[in-house]
Amino acid sequence: MAIQVGFYDAKNYDRTVFNTSNDGEDIEIHYFGDRLNEESVRLSKGMDVICIFVDDTCDSRVIEALKANGVRLIALRCAGFNNVDLAAAAAAGIPVVRVPAYSPHAVAEYAVTLMLCLNRKVYRSTNRTREWNFKLDGLMGFDMYGKTVGIVGLGRIARCVAEILHGFGMKILAYDLYPDKAFAEKLGIELVDLDEIYRRSDIITLHVPLTPQTRYMINNVSIDKMKPGVMIINTGRGKLISSSALIEGLRSRKVSCAGLDVYEDEQKYFYEDLSDSMISDDKLSILLTMPNVIVTSHQAFFTKEALENIAHTTLTNIRDFIAGKPLVNEVKP
Ligand code: NAI
Repeated sequence: MAIQVGFYDAKNYDRTVFNTSNDGEDIEIHYFGDRLNEESVRLSKGMDVICIFVDDTCDSRVIEALKANGVRLIALRCAGFNNVDLAAAAAAGIPVVRVPAYSPHAVAEYAVTLMLCLNRKVYRSTNRTREWNFKLDGLMGFDMYGKTVGIVGLGRIARCVAEILHGFGMKILAYDLYPDKAFAEKLGIELVDLDEIYRRSDIITLHVPLTPQTRYMINNVSIDKMKPGVMIINTGRGKLISSSALIEGLRSRKVSCAGLDVYEDEQKYFYEDLSDSMISDDKLSILLTMPNVIVTSHQAFFTKEALENIAHTTLTNIRDFIAGKPLVNEVKP
């Protein structure tokens, strides 16, 4: 009998890519439109595996219900695992697997896209020319060449970012708990502490996971330490930044602009069409009105190559579990 996989928060593109990739008879996928939470967990009854994404909620109560429903594996189809209570999963005896690297290039290229769009005000000029306004006032940017970028976290994605920005001729500073020194040396990256990143960077880009140590690392205190006019890019996780502190920094002009592919309360909004609803989130509303802020809907990963890799690795993770093989992509508390 085929392994039953309950696939939460399924979008059309997920179905297309996973159905194409799932060429065996051993896995049957049931696609649910709902996100995983305390209510929708009931759908997992009869499933051996659940497959979830970045905005599903997998806390201890949900995990308890998953166990009661007979779920034996939690397969994340993303790299970050901050939305899963790993200790609760371990206590329930349910292993958690993820896709550690599906395309660091996709996210890195997107982070640089945000930098360039903000710097050269591409979205503003596009809006203007659509209105037949061909003036350049207010569109001046700066050369990336010779500027200093501070990369927070120097993992897989950040290393791709560094390679791209090295190509631009930027000075690169990086901070990581366990930096890849050989890589840093090869690219001439200066490994510094966080305060130095804040003090010297013209652009700060965040590539650390969300952990208790990194939660709200961008706050009033850190923004105070930054260079006036700094650009902040976040393709990591929303809660790396305190949105109220960022709004204050933008209002005081300490922060010149921000590119946010993630937002601290994105679970309520991202990946849905809410154009007919009233949004009661004041912080998001303020950010969306600012001409020097770009907010996108956690789309940095969204390339053809990345989705194909996500499907391939997720299905391999599930097949390894079925076969009782070592789970190479398991995450433990
Ligand atoms: P990675 O695991 O390769 O790199 C993370 C780096 O952060 C590691 O080198 C680690 O040593 C460092 N680190 C961890 N805690 C730290 C701390 N407290 N201070 C300094 N450094 C610390 O991860 P990868 O693949 O580069 O991804 C980074 C993050 O990007 C993921 O955790 C995820 O949250 C986010 N992401 C966002 C996507 C999007 O679509 N916007 C898609 C994929 C990942």
